[in-house]
Amino acid sequence: MVFLESSANNQKMEVKTMSPMNSFPLEESIAKSDIPNPIIKGDFLDFRKKFNNSPFMFSHNLAGHPLFELPRLAKLANTLIADKESHVMCKIGNFPIDQKWSVRPNKVEQVAVVIENIETSNSWLLLQDTQLDPEYKALMEQIITEAENHTGIPLRKEITWLEAFIFIASPHTATPYHMDSEQNFIFQIRGEKEDNLFDRRDRSVLTESEIERFYIGDRECLNYQEENQCKATVYHLTQGTGIYHPVNDPHWVRNGNTYTVSLTVLFYMRQFDLRARVYQVNHYLRKLGLNPTPPGKSVLIDNIKIHTVGLFSKQKPENKNDVLRSGIERIRSLVAWLGAPLKLGKKIFKKIEKS
Ligand SMILES: [Fe+2]
Repeated sequence: MVFLESSANNQKMEVKTMSPMNSFPLEESIAKSDIPNPIIKGDFLDFRKKFNNSPFMFSHNLAGHPLFELPRLAKLANTLIADKESHVMCKIGNFPIDQKWSVRPNKVEQVAVVIENIETSNSWLLLQDTQLDPEYKALMEQIITEAENHTGIPLRKEITWLEAFIFIASPHTATPYHMDSEQNFIFQIRGEKEDNLFDRRDRSVLTESEIERFYIGDRECLNYQEENQCKATVYHLTQGTGIYHPVNDPHWVRNGNTYTVSLTVLFYMRQFDLRARVYQVNHYLRKLGLNPTPPGKSVLIDNIKIHTVGLFSKQKPENKNDVLRSGIERIRSLVAWLGAPLKLGKKIFKKIEKS
């Protein structure tokens, strides 16, 4: 756990990764030397030119690695569930790309069965917090180290939350249209898929209001518009390739003819956490009927919003939601608490008037 000084609000922000569990026998560990070195290969120019800004593809050496064989993944999934059920999410049966995220998959006990039948079960599984297993943690750490070298940015100084998850999906399944508050390095380990990415800066695709609602915690704020599909850039991911997703670029994904396995290293960075506060304040200003200034237009206005939310933000966030939303949620609670007597007074007054 590392504490970082935030220049914008003078708060200490904490880089959090989960601690390894004790439930993984040491004899099962792959020595760190068994991790390909390097993991990322090829031309690194895009890492310097496009990181923090635009998507780009890259190549890697993880295809065929034993950590991504189905029996090993089944073991990982069951061990994660034993720690906390919510580490693993599972969906049996396909659903359309405009599916809302509220219809999220249910956790299942028998993930091994689902994984074993992934080729035909029309399912997908998301294994979260895989870094709880030391083997996958070593992988994640090496990827971040390589990304630091290729981008030329000391990412660990900027990262406020770091996590690695593995996605396993049956042929032809789709991941619905959504956007993320994290940046992602996605490594296609097995199979093929098409990644449809949209430009977050195109306001005909993504409005300020949608981003504001997203940062308030509304996962349903994005609406897939068929007429915008022509604006997507489609990346064809095959095993041994990867893609970088910048923060907030909306996307949806469709699997190819075989089952797929992919590793995602995702992280929050301080500059985007602070920008999220501006969007959060703007959400409420818009609700008041105002037309708020989008982030990046005025340093002064941005800083007022960032500092205001920062005053209420948790100094030691315990989860991803805390990192992004603890400040605005505390303000919301405070306003509700202060407003409660007023509402009660209005109710009483109305009753008196009626009687
Ligand atoms: Fe995503």
